[in-house]
Amino acid sequence: MNVRLFRPDVGERELEAVRAAFDRAWLGLGPKVSEFEEKWSAFIGAPCSVATNSATAGLHLALAAWRFPKGAKVLVPGMTFAATALAPLYEGLEPVFVDCDYETLGMDLDDLERKIDKDCVAVMPVHMGGHPVPMDRLLDLCAPHGLKVVEDCAHTAGGEYLGRKLGTWGDMGVFSFEEKKCMTTGDGGMIALADPGFEEPLKAMRWMGIDKDTWKRNRLYTASGTDVRHWYYEIALLGYKYNMNDLAASIGLVQLERLPELNGSRHRALLAYLERLGGLRHARPLFPYITDGTCPYWIFGLRCDDRDGLMAHLKENGVSTGLHYSPLTEHPLFAPYAVPLPNAQRLYGEMITLPLFAGIREEEIDYVCDNVRQWDKAQ
Ligand SMILES: Cc1ncc(COP(=O)(O)O)c(C=O)c1O
Repeated sequence: MNVRLFRPDVGERELEAVRAAFDRAWLGLGPKVSEFEEKWSAFIGAPCSVATNSATAGLHLALAAWRFPKGAKVLVPGMTFAATALAPLYEGLEPVFVDCDYETLGMDLDDLERKIDKDCVAVMPVHMGGHPVPMDRLLDLCAPHGLKVVEDCAHTAGGEYLGRKLGTWGDMGVFSFEEKKCMTTGDGGMIALADPGFEEPLKAMRWMGIDKDTWKRNRLYTASGTDVRHWYYEIALLGYKYNMNDLAASIGLVQLERLPELNGSRHRALLAYLERLGGLRHARPLFPYITDGTCPYWIFGLRCDDRDGLMAHLKENGVSTGLHYSPLTEHPLFAPYAVPLPNAQRLYGEMITLPLFAGIREEEIDYVCDNVRQWDKAQ
């Protein structure tokens, strides 16, 4: 048997939505993007949202919105996907790497507190694997210093902390709809805003800085009257080509409706893994998984004393595995900002990601668990 690590769960409903976009013959930035933004805001509990073509773009726009002075510092996790730390670099800002908590993999808030200084302007916590960063404590640490908070929610869609949705604790929450994530649009992202005042500038900045959407202007092209300046727009802000398009949004609208089903499927798989992989001698669950259903996890993983041995055994038996993530300071690009990250380094040698996706079959979970148990017994 071969078991994939991740697998998007898309089918007939998504295909129908794409077909309808073809029939309308409007594939670019259009009404479906607006509808997706409105429905996302209602779902997450934010006053408004801005859809982008990736979370990487969303994280960049989020930081760009404040126009921080060049060289100011942004606190980012040392162990995350590159996109979190690329955002400050795109803006000429300095990433300050914060170690992770050894148990939860989220930002170590003691290390965060130590690293906040007068040059810091923002902090970008990541809810790793879907496990929530204690946002109440993080906000308490940030507020006295006036730090802006951008939650990187790439690993969650609908997860909560203390009854409040992740992505609505900070000033902005950025979600990813890349193909492997909790829900997908192929590629895509969404910025949930706490302050509606950012909606207009961010919508312009995702579209070259143009202050009017083409699809709205389009109606004026054929409107009756003598106004021949229907083509007119202004560019006042430095913008990018970061917009979501109607094809992606059409898929996203279906996926959002299906999100309870998708999150539920991964949650059931998580419970099955936890039950079947209890009591191992050489491995234990990667996270202190919260199993009450408020945190739909995106990663199931283990930490073990011979990670490479387990990885090789699973590989030989057709089970795909991964590693999320190596400390960013291991990469030459981030070497100038390197600081010791003892927890991230320790986890780097221990952790392994196992297959988890909506629709993973019972026999696939059994097969993965049988192989892990076999390896554990043989040690
Ligand atoms: C923590 C984190 N942030 C940001 C991103 C970027 O997401 P996207 O692929 O939508 O740009 C990812 C992607 O895996 C991620 O894991």
